[in-house]
Amino acid sequence: MKFFVDTANLKEINEARSLGILDGVTTNPSLISKESVYSQKEIQDHYISICKLMKNEEDVSAEVINTNYTKMIREGEKLSLLHPKIVVKVPITFDGIKAIKYFSNKKIKTNCTLVFSTGQAILAAKVGATYVSPFIGRIDDVSYDGLNLIREIKKIYDNYHFETKILAASIRNPLHIIECSKIGIYAVTTPIKVIYSLLNHPLTNTGLEKFLTDYKNKIK
Ligand code: G3P
Repeated sequence: MKFFVDTANLKEINEARSLGILDGVTTNPSLISKESVYSQKEIQDHYISICKLMKNEEDVSAEVINTNYTKMIREGEKLSLLHPKIVVKVPITFDGIKAIKYFSNKKIKTNCTLVFSTGQAILAAKVGATYVSPFIGRIDDVSYDGLNLIREIKKIYDNYHFETKILAASIRNPLHIIECSKIGIYAVTTPIKVIYSLLNHPLTNTGLEKFLTDYKNKIK
């Protein structure tokens, strides 16, 4: 399973690279707004800086801000020209679906975002989105089962051999990642702190402490 990091922060992306687990990056307007970028030009430069960190890694999702079809395709085309690693992230709306179809015809890669239902995921696949991003955590937040949505989308996509890759988003805890890997989806996109929490086990810590204590007590 691929690990994308859900951040626009260069330090975090570098950290994930240095761990050796980075496969790609996803951003969204809220994540961009957390960085020191204050103009369109600075945002574009920031996307380019993120892309330059990608060596063997896959790609970087950059989201359109416009919601109108004509403006969306103009903005998405500009984003796609910033760097070959850019994937245009588009919300699943009426105009968004039309825009994804347009980008798909032009071989521009897309990530269909803000997906909360199987119906939306079917539409994303029908218009040829490269990725679909169902938001697990936000579904859990309103007392529904985010992972069940992932299971259903996986089954539907398998039924029809849809090529759209499932990129589970809004990951909040390590169990989300583990369950996604059991379901067998293409990738998760997650804050780096959730990747770190996969590491945690108290028996590893106490086990290591005992190994080192035993060794030091004997070997001088
Ligand atoms: O990038 C989209 C998604 O991963 C957002 O996650 O934690 O804001 O629900 P979150």
